[in-house]
Amino acid sequence: MFLQSLTLENFRCYERAELDFRPGLNVVLGPNASGKTTILEAIYLLATTTSARGGRARTMVRHGQSWGRVTGRFVVDGRELTLRTTLGDPSGDRSGAKTLEIDGREVASAREIIGRVQAILFWVGELDVVKGSPAERRHFLNAALGQMSARYLDDLARYRRALRQRNEVLKGMAHRGGDGRMLAPWTHSLVESGVPITIDRRDYLAALAPEAAALHERLGVGAEGLSVRYEPSVVNSQADGELADEFYRALEETHRRELDRRSTQVGPHRDDMLLEIDGVDLRRFGSQGQQRTAALALKLAQARVALARTEQQPILLLDDCLSELDPARGAAMLDLSRDHEQMIVTSACCPEHLADRLADAHLIGSGADDATCEPCEGKE
Ligand SMILES: Nc1ncnc2c1ncn2[C@@H]1O[C@H](COP(=O)(O)OP(=O)(O)OP(=O)(O)O)[C@@H](O)[C@H]1O
Ligand SMILES: [Mg+2]
Repeated sequence: MFLQSLTLENFRCYERAELDFRPGLNVVLGPNASGKTTILEAIYLLATTTSARGGRARTMVRHGQSWGRVTGRFVVDGRELTLRTTLGDPSGDRSGAKTLEIDGREVASAREIIGRVQAILFWVGELDVVKGSPAERRHFLNAALGQMSARYLDDLARYRRALRQRNEVLKGMAHRGGDGRMLAPWTHSLVESGVPITIDRRDYLAALAPEAAALHERLGVGAEGLSVRYEPSVVNSQADGELADEFYRALEETHRRELDRRSTQVGPHRDDMLLEIDGVDLRRFGSQGQQRTAALALKLAQARVALARTEQQPILLLDDCLSELDPARGAAMLDLSRDHEQMIVTSACCPEHLADRLADAHLIGSGADDATCEPCEGKE
């Protein structure tokens, strides 16, 4: 799949912009604060219906305006597909509304959109996957699996609800006493939704790990082996049928502690991923460059797994990577674009040492600027 064109209206710094894209390598060029990241954010919004930067949808509306809109024309399986997200209400009635459209038809739920277009975004926030808290790594897993499976998102919603309710009961028990019977329905629903989440995460990481290791090697750091492993809160013995029993047992074993702490101590909300380079824990001991390369390898691996599972080649959105990677890694990253139907990269400038690799790329100017940059001009 690939993006053909993008129209931004009242979206962050853009009053109105129409941008064309091509299959293959696209480079969005422009100085700082010219709206490069905003373009990737807009594409990500169309694909996932959410902002990669977090926060309320309204913050994406251009300051001083009551509504904003992003429209993207994609080609999926050889067919055109137009996705449109409107934030706020152009007629001024419903300022908090978010309207989603597919080919001009309004859809009631984000579920109808998610998965139609797969976009994988690598941006500065992605480093948190490596160096941030376990919650960041769970977020990575949730976003990756959620883009491919609405069922996973349903399980996650049921799990979060059960966890919230169960923790409420635990708090009540700490105040007023009570017995385990009050917990039972929430324990049941916690296990029921938690087991498929654990299995999905385990299988996903089993598929992701070898891809991430191979891509990490191709990014020019062959001497360093990247290993990615699931660290589930409820350890399971491979036999899926036993996982529920193990979860119940782990909850029983931690019952004293959960009463003391008034919160559920085991379950997928405590999962983590172990990331190692040559046996050293990257989360705590990795250099910036190592962490960045590993995060990039994870993202690119996410695209590979999505391709294998959905038979769709996701659009790769890479924000500001070129300036951060050393020349060899930057070149290796651009070379990977040959494996992808479409890669959209942003950069404040195209570095001179990459000029030959960028010569065939489609250059797009962000903001009011033309896509020009001396090394590229020199090439022409
Ligand atoms: N809701 C909004 N309304 C108007 N302008 C906004 C809004 N949100 C962000 N901006 C502005 O949009 C501009 C572009 O931001 P963006 O992050 O896309 O730039 P960038 O080209 O990626 O910059 P950099 O090279 O520094 O990463 C910034 O000046 C920012 O302050
Ligand atoms: Mg930026």
